[in-house]
Amino acid sequence: MTSTPNFHENRPSRRLLVTGGAGFIGSNFVRYWCTRYPGDRVVVLDALTYAGNRQNLASLVGKENFRFVQGNICDRSLVETLLEEEQIDTVVHFAAESHVDRSILGPSAFIQTNVVGTFTLLEAFRIHWQTLFSVKGGNPQGVFIHVSTDEVYGTLTPRDPAFTEKTPYAPNSPYSASKAGSDHLARAYYHTYGIPTIVTNCSNNYGPYHFPEKLIPLMCINMLLGKPLPVYGDGENIRDWLYVEDHCRALDLVIHRGTPGATYNIGGNNEVKNIDLVRMLCRLMDELAPDLPMRPCEKLIAFVKDRPGHDRRYAIDATKIKTQLGWTPSVTVEEGLRQTVLWYLTHQDWWRPLLSEEYRAYYQQVYGN
Ligand code: NAD
Ligand code: TYD
Repeated sequence: MTSTPNFHENRPSRRLLVTGGAGFIGSNFVRYWCTRYPGDRVVVLDALTYAGNRQNLASLVGKENFRFVQGNICDRSLVETLLEEEQIDTVVHFAAESHVDRSILGPSAFIQTNVVGTFTLLEAFRIHWQTLFSVKGGNPQGVFIHVSTDEVYGTLTPRDPAFTEKTPYAPNSPYSASKAGSDHLARAYYHTYGIPTIVTNCSNNYGPYHFPEKLIPLMCINMLLGKPLPVYGDGENIRDWLYVEDHCRALDLVIHRGTPGATYNIGGNNEVKNIDLVRMLCRLMDELAPDLPMRPCEKLIAFVKDRPGHDRRYAIDATKIKTQLGWTPSVTVEEGLRQTVLWYLTHQDWWRPLLSEEYRAYYQQVYGN
């Protein structure tokens, strides 16, 4: 389904610290990386919040070059110890509170992890970099990748051009504001201290291991449970969807070929209205699970109260990463959604345990049922 960047066989091995590696994108990235570069050392640091799940990395347990550490990115001494004892040269920073609706209910954790946590990592990496690498004449392959979102740019009308790397930041939710703050810190560490940071701003991801609070997995699971499919507002909001593996391939290129201090937009050029996306999911589920009692699934669609401050449209102009690094997304929305619906259909043992008391309490707060 996908092609991978083509690097020379004799590339020197790397030592990666992957924060948030037990979450959705982080775990897809870690599996991708360990398969693609088995000679590299990969250390995952993850606090295992409600969104982190050791099962996401089960296939890597026992592999020689893989290590999982449960811990918080705000824990400075733990981060320092890991950087030093593992001789890390590459940080890929995914760890975050990532869900807009939760940031509306309680922004505090977003400031703590996304802003303070990123600052803590950057500070620890700065000292590590300066003492371990600069003294030895630098390490040309060292890099700190700060994985961020297109939501920092705010919202677009249907007629606006897509976000470029030059679009001014205008975040509208506590989530996007906290990510914007951390993006600025990453940028400042390059300009002030010469630490090789790179910021990537990616559009909405989807695919396997996506926690069921986000639109696509929530819809898949609700269809399988015969529950209403809650569409916010008029359903006309637009998101630009990217299959998670295409994001991993983009990060691979940025790690190997990105310019320190630069930012790269990553997006699939797949703008879809929410209501159209939900209808596509319904049709796929009807086809792939013909025995569901509630079919056709479209009967389950329920328009509900809009999200406060709901951004109308996101769209990414990915020209820079395409022309400078040669990245192109390889999975169409039709193909990716089919794979994703099939995955949720065949991985009920993965998602059923996630419908915990905490999840039900969250669901009740947002949807009222
Ligand atoms: P996720 O919520 O699925 O995973 C986040 C992970 O971070 C979890 O494993 C969690 O346990 C861990 N974590 C949270 N707080 C932590 C802390 N204080 N210390 C250590 N670990 C902690 O998120 P995701 O969707 O995989 O997103 C990963 C990153 O990509 C985030 O930075 C997000 O802002 C960014 N991003 C996401 C999307 C998207 O569509 N999901 C798009 C663009 C960018
Ligand atoms: P989401 O997956 O939460 O991602 P983000 O808010 O970061 O873009 O939501 C995607 C879109 O789907 C967004 O416009 C909000 C909408 N949405 C619903 O209509 N219903 C839902 O239950 C959820 C979770 C999201």
